[in-house]
Amino acid sequence: MTMVGETPGAVLVRQMIFGQLLSRAVCTAAELGLSDLLADGPLQVTELADRAGTDPRRLTQLMRCLTAFGVYSAGSDGSYELTAAGAALRTGAPGSALPTALLAAGGVGAAWTGMLGTVRTGKTAFDELFGESFFEHLGRDGRLRGLFDRSQTHDQELEIDQLLSAVDFSRHRRIVDVGGGDGALLARLLQAHPRTEGVLLDGAKTAANARARMNREGLTDRCTAVGGDFFSAVPADGDLYVLRQILHDWDDERCVEILRVCRQAMPPGARLLIIERIVEEGATGQDARFAALMDLYMMTVVGGAERTAREFGDLLAKADFAVEAVHRLPTAAAVIDARPGATAD
Ligand SMILES: C[S@@+](CC[C@H](N)C(=O)[O-])C[C@H]1O[C@@H](n2cnc3c(N)ncnc32)[C@H](O)[C@@H]1O
Repeated sequence: MTMVGETPGAVLVRQMIFGQLLSRAVCTAAELGLSDLLADGPLQVTELADRAGTDPRRLTQLMRCLTAFGVYSAGSDGSYELTAAGAALRTGAPGSALPTALLAAGGVGAAWTGMLGTVRTGKTAFDELFGESFFEHLGRDGRLRGLFDRSQTHDQELEIDQLLSAVDFSRHRRIVDVGGGDGALLARLLQAHPRTEGVLLDGAKTAANARARMNREGLTDRCTAVGGDFFSAVPADGDLYVLRQILHDWDDERCVEILRVCRQAMPPGARLLIIERIVEEGATGQDARFAALMDLYMMTVVGGAERTAREFGDLLAKADFAVEAVHRLPTAAAVIDARPGATAD
C-alpha cells in the first residue's frame, strides 16, 4: 500500500473525510456550552449531561471523541475536565474560539457544505444559500453581527502583542482603521499610544458598536467611528491606514477598488498597513494548512481568497502603492507595509 510518511494513503484520506465529524463535534460542544459548564472543575458525565440538557449516553460518545482529540481529558473516575484547547471554548477566555465555533455551527458551516457548487460555478455558496451576501446577512441580524465581532476580537487578541512589537505605531498622529469592525484593534492601538488619534470606518450599525466600545474604554476624546462604504470613500487626513482582514473578503477587482479609494484619501507621505495571512505557495506545514483552510472559508462564505505576498504586491501596484516591507508575525499573519507609489501627489 502506498504510504504518506508513516500512514498508508488510503488511511490518510479517510482521516481527512472524517475530519468533518471532528469539526461537528467541536461545534456541538460549543453549542452546548460544555466548556463553560466545566470551567469550575471536572464533572461526571451524568452531571454534565444534566446541566447541558443532553442524553447521557450520547454525550459520553461526544466526550470520548473530544477526549481522543485533546479538547477534554477524562479522569479515572469517569469525570471530564478542560484541557488548554477546551478552555479556549469558554465564553470570553483570551483568544476564545467559542464565537468562531458558533458561527461555524450556523450559516458559515452551512456555506462550507456548498463548496462543490462554488468550485463548479465560481458563485459564493453563502450567497446562493441565503440569497444575500454574508455582510448583508450580518447587517440584518444584530445577534449574529455581535457573534462575528466577538470572533474577530478574539482572533485579534492572538496577534496584538506581536503586531505592536513588529510595527512602530508611535510616530503616527492619526490612524484610520478601514473596515475596523467594532473597534477592538483600534482601541488596543490607541491604548498603547496615548498621543495618537483614531478614526474607524465600517457599516453604520457596526460603527455605532465601535462608538459604544470607545465609550466603554474611555477613548471617545481620541477616536471617532463613522458609518460608510469603503468602496465609495474612506476618511481623509490619516497618516496611517490599516486594513486588517479586509482584502481576503473580496475578489481581486473589488480589492483594487478598496485600495484605490484608500489611495485617493491618503495624504502624501501616509502609510498603508495590510494585516492578512500570507499563503506560501507549495508549503505544507501547519501554518500553510491553516491558511489553505481559511482560503476555502473565504471562498465559500464571502467570495474572497487568501493570497501570496506576490498577489498582494500585484493588487497594490494596480492601485498605485509600492510595498516597502513585509513583516511576518509568529501567528502566520503578516503585515504588508506600503506607500503611495511613484505617481504620488
Ligand atoms: C473580516 S472583518 C474585519 C474586521 C476588522 N478589521 C478585524 O480585523 O477584526 C471585515 C469588516 O469589513 C466590514 N465591511 C464589509 N463591507 C464593508 C463596506 N462596504 N464598507 C465598510 N466596511 C465594510 C465588515 O462589516 C467587517 O467589520
